[in-house]
Amino acid sequence: MTHHTYPQWSTESAHAILEPLKSTPGPVLVALQALQKEYGYVDPEAVAIVAQVFNVSRADVHGVLTFYHDLRTTPAPAKIIKICVAEACQSVGSRNLVAGMQKALGVNIDESHADVEIQSAYCFGNCALGPAAMVDGTLIGRATVEKLMP
Ligand code: FES
Repeated sequence: MTHHTYPQWSTESAHAILEPLKSTPGPVLVALQALQKEYGYVDPEAVAIVAQVFNVSRADVHGVLTFYHDLRTTPAPAKIIKICVAEACQSVGSRNLVAGMQKALGVNIDESHADVEIQSAYCFGNCALGPAAMVDGTLIGRATVEKLMP
């Protein structure tokens, strides 16, 4: 299974991404999302750059960065396992699945790690086949620890 490889963070290429966004609405969020799309995460150095480019305070940028949980400030891990914890999947055991995966991998859900992360997700539209999970973008129905383990 392949996963996305990201170019290395550089201030020059970040500027190239940010400049065209100056005129978009809600530019700070759009800018941070664009950086994350490019690099897989928002480098802490980006806060000062985004503040400068969009003429807002660093605190404003930091506020947006911490408010949106989809934005991450550490490099993306090699493997991401998302487990649906929305209602329909919970009713068919997604909490047990999370507990089992945490134990099997030795990491807690929604913690940042370099190698593998377990992330909570809220409905993949696959409720009939719950508990639903996604491993590196591939949807897995009736997920079990055995099915999800690398
Ligand atoms: S509630 Fe889990 S996929 Fe819909």
